[in-house]
Amino acid sequence: MTEHFADVYPGLTPRLVIGKSGSRSLSLREEIAAGTYAPVATGALIDQLEQADLRGRGGSGFPAHRKWRAVRDGAAPRVVVANGEEGEPSSFKDRWLLTNRPHAVIDGLLLAAAAVGADRAVIYLSHPETVSSVRQALVELPSIPGRVEVELHVVQHRYVAGEESAVCRSINGGPALPLAKPPRPFECGVDGHPTLVSNVETLAQAAWIARNGADAYRALGTSASPGTMLVTLGGACRRPGVYEVPYGLTLGQLIEDCAGGLSNGIGGVLAGGWFMGVADASLLEATWCYDAMRAAGSGVGCGAVTVLGHDERIEEVVARLARWYVEESAQQCGVCVKGTVAIADTLELFSRGSAEPDALAKLARWGTTLQGRGACAFLDGAANLAGTFSKIITSDRTMQPVAVE
Ligand SMILES: Cc1cc2nc3c(=O)[nH]c(=O)nc-3n(C[C@H](O)[C@H](O)[C@H](O)COP(=O)(O)O)c2cc1C
Repeated sequence: MTEHFADVYPGLTPRLVIGKSGSRSLSLREEIAAGTYAPVATGALIDQLEQADLRGRGGSGFPAHRKWRAVRDGAAPRVVVANGEEGEPSSFKDRWLLTNRPHAVIDGLLLAAAAVGADRAVIYLSHPETVSSVRQALVELPSIPGRVEVELHVVQHRYVAGEESAVCRSINGGPALPLAKPPRPFECGVDGHPTLVSNVETLAQAAWIARNGADAYRALGTSASPGTMLVTLGGACRRPGVYEVPYGLTLGQLIEDCAGGLSNGIGGVLAGGWFMGVADASLLEATWCYDAMRAAGSGVGCGAVTVLGHDERIEEVVARLARWYVEESAQQCGVCVKGTVAIADTLELFSRGSAEPDALAKLARWGTTLQGRGACAFLDGAANLAGTFSKIITSDRTMQPVAVE
């Protein structure tokens, strides 16, 4: 996707996608005029997040209130970090948010700092356009006595740099590479203090909840996956871009209604970012919510969806992605170095049509045995690719691309 824009699901009253400001940030004055930046109390905010059932938008979908509470219950001093690195190559929503509505993120970060009792707040970024929009927004921020200062930490872009322990390590002056866990950042993060690392969209959603309440948040979406989410629809669809959508519609509906439908038939789908692996066309029938996407063998992840055209060979696509995993590995854990190479080599043989008879069984096995290994979940992504490919390649449906009308 060369250009990203944002629009909302037809008929939806947008929560995050407001202002229609194109590539220009909404200033603080415009946010205040739009009624999206009024002071709110943070007293019961964590309870509100629990009632809203807000889940992290960085990929794992972890309940926000549990992490916020764990940091608040840790010993002072505490730190909050807005993670806007957006390492996932098929996702643009964090960049959109930071470029167009930096104050929504800063607001969420300051509310998080107040709610968990943090005295340090950091915005962690790498993409140049987000650095300049956030820098400008920080200049506009009035200085309020007693309120925590917001720092900017700019890091060299790479996939693992957005992983939460890499985030803390980089802020601590080290390389932006993951650390073994435990301890997790909520126990021991920046400067060894309890640290809340939260995706920038999660923070913007939290700020919306603080202002509008949990009930209003739950008015859209499903009871198990309430609210709206920013999704990046890309690949073979007519209007690739960033969209705000409610949970609960099918993936096919989202592509049709937001992105104008398929542009080149369908040969497969990468949903939830590259991390969740590859699926066949039947995934378009699955409901876009946490449970249904997982049940369908994929996931909501960070909300990025790449549609593969009918003439794209799945074997070639997955071989390319697997090689990317080899290149992006932090090279710190033996199991990751060896595992990513083994997966990439095997998928490459598939792509050339010269895989051994037991190759599929190997990929299926790695799809489960390599999960949860290494210092971070990076290898899980490569394992997901191997496991999901091994499933769809044996299914008749997948390998019968749907022709374009
Ligand atoms: C390899 C890897 C890369 C990640 N990259 C990002 C990223 O770029 N941005 C992000 O918000 N979360 C990323 N995460 C997830 C973070 O570790 C963390 O869970 C997230 O920032 C927490 O925010 P949330 O609870 O609001 O989702 C990554 C995780 C892994 C394993």
